[in-house]
Amino acid sequence: MAEKKAPSKKASKTPRKQPLAHAAAQAKSDATFQSRLARHHDELRWLYMELYNNGDMFAELCDQMKRFYDERSEKLKKLDAAREASGEWYRSRDMLGMQMYIDNFAGDIPGVEKNLDYLERCNVNYIHLMPFLDTPSDKSRSDGGYAVSDFRRVKPELGTMDDLAHLADKCHDRGISLCMDFVMNHTSDEHEWARRARAGEGEYMSRYFFTADQGLIDQYTRDVPQVFPTTAPGHFTYLPELGQSVMTQFYPYQWDLNYRNPRVFNEMMYNFLFLANQGMDIIRIDAVPYIWKQLGTNCRNLPQVHTIVRMMRMISEIVCPGIVLLGEVVMAPVEVVPYFGTVEKPECHMLYNVTTMATTWNSVACRDTRLLRRQLETVCSLPHEYTFLNYLRCHDDIGWGLDYATLSDWGMEEVPHKHYLNEYFQGHTEGSVSRGELYNADPITGDARFCATTASMCGIEAAGFEGDAQAMDVAIRKDIMLHAYLLAQSGLPIIYSGDEIGQVNDYTYKDDPEKAEDSRYIHRGAFPWDLVKNVRSKKTVQGRIFGALSKLEGIRRDEKIFDADAQTEIVGYSDPAILWMRRRMDGRTLDAVFNFSDEDRTLWMPEEGEYRDLATGEVDEFQTFELSAWDFRWYVH
Ligand code: GLC
Repeated sequence: MAEKKAPSKKASKTPRKQPLAHAAAQAKSDATFQSRLARHHDELRWLYMELYNNGDMFAELCDQMKRFYDERSEKLKKLDAAREASGEWYRSRDMLGMQMYIDNFAGDIPGVEKNLDYLERCNVNYIHLMPFLDTPSDKSRSDGGYAVSDFRRVKPELGTMDDLAHLADKCHDRGISLCMDFVMNHTSDEHEWARRARAGEGEYMSRYFFTADQGLIDQYTRDVPQVFPTTAPGHFTYLPELGQSVMTQFYPYQWDLNYRNPRVFNEMMYNFLFLANQGMDIIRIDAVPYIWKQLGTNCRNLPQVHTIVRMMRMISEIVCPGIVLLGEVVMAPVEVVPYFGTVEKPECHMLYNVTTMATTWNSVACRDTRLLRRQLETVCSLPHEYTFLNYLRCHDDIGWGLDYATLSDWGMEEVPHKHYLNEYFQGHTEGSVSRGELYNADPITGDARFCATTASMCGIEAAGFEGDAQAMDVAIRKDIMLHAYLLAQSGLPIIYSGDEIGQVNDYTYKDDPEKAEDSRYIHRGAFPWDLVKNVRSKKTVQGRIFGALSKLEGIRRDEKIFDADAQTEIVGYSDPAILWMRRRMDGRTLDAVFNFSDEDRTLWMPEEGEYRDLATGEVDEFQTFELSAWDFRWYVH
């Protein structure tokens, strides 16, 4: 008894204070939530009621926002406050991202944590972990993780939700942010909702689109373009046990969610907040243009999609304002930019610079930068607040979404031009050093997309295979030049894991029946750790690329001229093979010049003067300079 009393006496001293301190802290925390809610409440309610006209469900949403806010850790709340105060943290020029598959890179989530030192050596402070939530175990039915069966469970072979939160915490200690996919357009057919819908439960059927009306299916088929015309044709999948079809715009095992049902919206927002609370910093909203369906339209980018994204933005600003929404909008530029919303009513913080990416490879194949100049001019003319995620390659195919109206004015038509690009990048065209494969070649429209790694597209695979040292020099130069061009743009540069060491295509997916049908696996190979040891040697492919990238990344971080707020312009240089980007900041000018041709060039500066080569540090006075084929310069004055 005595033994028990003593500590309770001691304890009784502090508890009296603690509840008070605790109550004060809780009151402060509540006040923060209430003031954030007050800032957005009216607009959020307005939009919600406009879409759903359901006050009870809106009230439930507000209650749940408070619950998720209360559950958010103090450490994350501090980070939220710091980010709110500092403004647009993700626009800082020292941000460098890397996108990776957990299993390819390190086996599982704890493996990623063990390799954070390597990622820091790569200068990376933003990691996009490719989809890791539970999916059907059969890989041929998981779409690389984009068919989610449970939004609150990590795929067992990759780890647990606790491992994820632990990784996020360790990343935050090192100033690294984590990005994950929020696949909101569909669930897998093994998700609990889908299983219950398949069993005929009306409540769950109403969360998807079911129909037995062939006329309706035919109308969708007529009006809505195909996402995967070859690997997954059609928009509906017939379920014999129900005698009905369910909408499946992507793969037949990915059932489109019905966002007309407020239950779907609310539950998906709770999933979103749950994941945010695990310590995610950037949430990539997957395939967002597709989430609202309306018969008689092409079911892409409808106004209701923007209402939903705007609501998500407000919900995250209320509960977890440190979070960045990254929209995956793989669409024409006119469709992409509206996803930023307006300055008063923002939607996504950041969007993929998809047209620039595709147009870059167009310039590589054509040795002509005119279309790219136009595209970059458009990007330069947008408000600086619009932040793009820039990349050379990602986990998906390249869809050749180019400005065909302009190409047509120049005498190049869409189908033959795409054919040329695909032939070039498969290495079928004379002079092409690229290697890779087609994706979803559609025999009806003649359309096809393309898959390969950056290194293979630049010629590193071919030169290595042929043992051609001279060709290898050019290929490495091209690869580094493209990264220099990537880093010279405003926005967040993302390196695709493996690109930092010139990883080439992986053809082993063909031996795996669960992957063989999807050529995107050609650039989803296991990370070649055995080659990482080569990065120390300047004689190796890995060392040359890794060393060059490290240096350029360091320069970008150190030089203010790379600030997102710098003035940017594209110089109309007379030679179409030359891309000339100019940045101005604080009275300094950067001329970033890239040679997209197979020949060396002599180039002219607008005037004779003293220029510093940022890569070598050398200062020289000149007006003309030599630029090798596929080389670049970053000159500052
Ligand atoms: C996104 C992903 C892609 C996936 C699709 C369906 O476009 O990037 O990999 O197949 O969504 O979820």
